[in-house]
Amino acid sequence: MDFEEFRRNGHDFVTWMADYLGQIEGYRVRAKLEPGAILAQLPDEPPHSGEAMDQVFADFIRILLPGITHWQHPRFLAYFPANSSPPSVLAEMLTATLGAQCMLWETSPAAAELEQRVMEWLGGLVGLGPGFTGSIQDSASSATLLAIISAAERASGGRFSREGLAGGPRLILYCSAEAHSSVEKGARIAGIGAANVRKIPVDQNGAMITAALRGAIRTDRNSGHVPACIVGCFGTTGIGAIDPIEQLSTIARTEGIYLHVDAAWAGAALILPELRGLAAGLDGADSIVLNPHKWLMTNFDCSAFFMRHPAELARALSLTPTYLETRAASSIPEYRDWSIALGRRFRALKLWFVLRSYGSEGLRAKIRSDLAAAQRLAALIRSTADFELTSGPNLALLSFRYAPEGVADLDALNETLLHVVNDGGFTYLTKTRHQGRLVIRISIGQTYTTWRHVEESWRHIQDCAQKLAR
Ligand SMILES: Cc1ncc(COP(=O)(O)O)c(C=O)c1O
Repeated sequence: MDFEEFRRNGHDFVTWMADYLGQIEGYRVRAKLEPGAILAQLPDEPPHSGEAMDQVFADFIRILLPGITHWQHPRFLAYFPANSSPPSVLAEMLTATLGAQCMLWETSPAAAELEQRVMEWLGGLVGLGPGFTGSIQDSASSATLLAIISAAERASGGRFSREGLAGGPRLILYCSAEAHSSVEKGARIAGIGAANVRKIPVDQNGAMITAALRGAIRTDRNSGHVPACIVGCFGTTGIGAIDPIEQLSTIARTEGIYLHVDAAWAGAALILPELRGLAAGLDGADSIVLNPHKWLMTNFDCSAFFMRHPAELARALSLTPTYLETRAASSIPEYRDWSIALGRRFRALKLWFVLRSYGSEGLRAKIRSDLAAAQRLAALIRSTADFELTSGPNLALLSFRYAPEGVADLDALNETLLHVVNDGGFTYLTKTRHQGRLVIRISIGQTYTTWRHVEESWRHIQDCAQKLAR
């Protein structure tokens, strides 16, 4: 493809992209097709000679688009959002065009320095003190793994990176029973092992019970183990519960344990000064992760990882073979030492575009609007016969249950309702288990979602439920 053809296709694609986003409500939210249906339409072998872009694009529309679940659909109320926005998409186009590999300062000075600045901006926006420094990771899972590595390095006095953990005392990680699966996964990858993850019970609000945490730490010390890491959650995946961060930070400080806070979803809400009280004590954490790619209109992947002691992580991960030596002994961090992979995408650009394009007030207005929609929906659910609000709203996440009288197996009924709603394609929801019961989650926060979309989704859910009851 020559550059003129690239220009022509680029213009056509951007036209399609604007049309797609403008008309996205016309699509069903969740793809509905049999497993293998897309694969069956893709040839076994790549073409010998190159095909025209028109042909490739036509197949994207014909074969792939029907198999896409539309995460940018305003009635996407499932999982947590994976937001994008037009400024972020435009930045991604530039990132792809530059194709820069930003592993070292020298290989892309602007990327490293912009990353430092946007992380400072973001830290300030969510109210973090100056003691934190940050980098952009691909995902909260990677950030949490890095936190666990730092904790293991500290707790083992450097044995973790030198000799590995085998043969030494067990390092123990504590999180709540509601913590995201990435926490245990991180512990497995870091060599701590699933058996050394203590899942501390939660109270009726889904928050970690700190008395149980203290008890577990005591028991482990008495057994000769080394309590190494506490992972608190600011906004659990199931119901958006908030662990008592202030208390966790006191325990971590007095016990000498590393504290990481997983604020992957809810951390974005801290750009609202009126919500900062929810995260009191956050400054006492050793590290925090929050994902602009969830609720801050920045395309996946963009996960903000803040640390107070980056040197600890660098000690565990830094390796400089000759081919990575550069003359740049600068004041700018070498982010490769703070990352799992060596290669790094230019992720700061899209966050910079978003922060500048919306401004802090624009981003705050979006989150306030989602919080208000969640409150209105909760009121509607409470006033609807046969429905029960089972949790929240915790920020913009709530859960409910269809509970008509005389039904013995409400879990099965709600599972069926979820399938009927999702198969219909009008809206898309997910489930969780809360206090032993299966409940349906509604997560508000997609970039284009307004109250209208939430309300029409709710009417649709009620219609589906009534049809089920007949
Ligand atoms: C609380 C929490 N932590 C971590 C994650 C994992 O995020 P990522 O996909 O960025 O690894 C999620 C995903 O939804 C989450 O809800």
